[in-house]
Amino acid sequence: MSNLRHLLSAADLSRDAAINLLDLSETMASVNDREIKKLPTLRGKTVVNLFFEDSTRTRISFELAAKRLSADVINFSAKGSSVSKGESLKDTAQTLEAMGADGVVIRHAASGAAYTLAHSGWINGAIVNAGDGTHEHPTQALLDAFTIRRRLHGSASTGKALDGVKVAIVGDVLHSRVARSNLLLLNTLGAEVHLVAPPTLLPADSSGWNAHIHYDLDAMLHRVKPDAVMMLRVQLERMSAAFFASEREYARVWGFNADRLALLGSKSLLMHPGPMNRGLEISSAAADSPNSTVLEQVANGVSVRMAVLFNLLSGERSIENV
Ligand code: NCD
Repeated sequence: MSNLRHLLSAADLSRDAAINLLDLSETMASVNDREIKKLPTLRGKTVVNLFFEDSTRTRISFELAAKRLSADVINFSAKGSSVSKGESLKDTAQTLEAMGADGVVIRHAASGAAYTLAHSGWINGAIVNAGDGTHEHPTQALLDAFTIRRRLHGSASTGKALDGVKVAIVGDVLHSRVARSNLLLLNTLGAEVHLVAPPTLLPADSSGWNAHIHYDLDAMLHRVKPDAVMMLRVQLERMSAAFFASEREYARVWGFNADRLALLGSKSLLMHPGPMNRGLEISSAAADSPNSTVLEQVANGVSVRMAVLFNLLSGERSIENV
């Protein structure tokens, strides 16, 4: 497959490129099942994790992915920097460039930060967007698509897309980069996307979004019978006003609880990118049920990020001997 220059948006991926990355992720998953979970392919390459925002899963996942490909990894946590955002990003990027970073994985509170870094001329390395504000989180969308494909079609599903698969994305769509990247990638892969949220947590004008919009979770579950339900975290840290009456009411109307679990087919997936607000958007009964893919998503994230880093950084090196 051809190499990408950067991965900034799920829209950077054509259908073929997305399927190829999912297939490569299967190869990486088989490496992760071995006793010695390591490939020599990125030996001598340096990957910098540049995290201006908190993260547990994504940062550790990228670190593990780079290490399993034998790259050198530097973790840079920029939290607490007193320099203004634009300057600190430029100074930091130039420092990384001077040290010879081949790839930079960036998470930043400002939408567009990864794009700025990629197009600034400050740095030559490949940029991976690990979440920029409320904008995008493309590797989360890839790991979600990989999780859906594996659960529905098994691990021998190479070459397959998600044509006709019904996916409902539920909750705080307005503040969610996970929702945005998933909407793009799921459409690219041929899935049917349903957005389910209170009107206050949907963008003011969603007419340009290629999705069915619903305002009633139970009615949607009855009518659509989704193959996968993706619950979004209520992102209180991004809320400057009141978007719903109370947490208690939100949990009652929008929370995925045992009653709603009973409406889900036994083969349907219940997904959440983490971190979960247990008792708010998802109950423990639902989060820990057999339908739940929460921990599979985390495990798959490592394989998918290995595939992404391999694609971006391996150059002429091949995967043939994996
Ligand atoms: C998401 C994020 O940070 O965008 N989490 C993640 O990457 N696993 C979703 C969220 O924080 O709600």
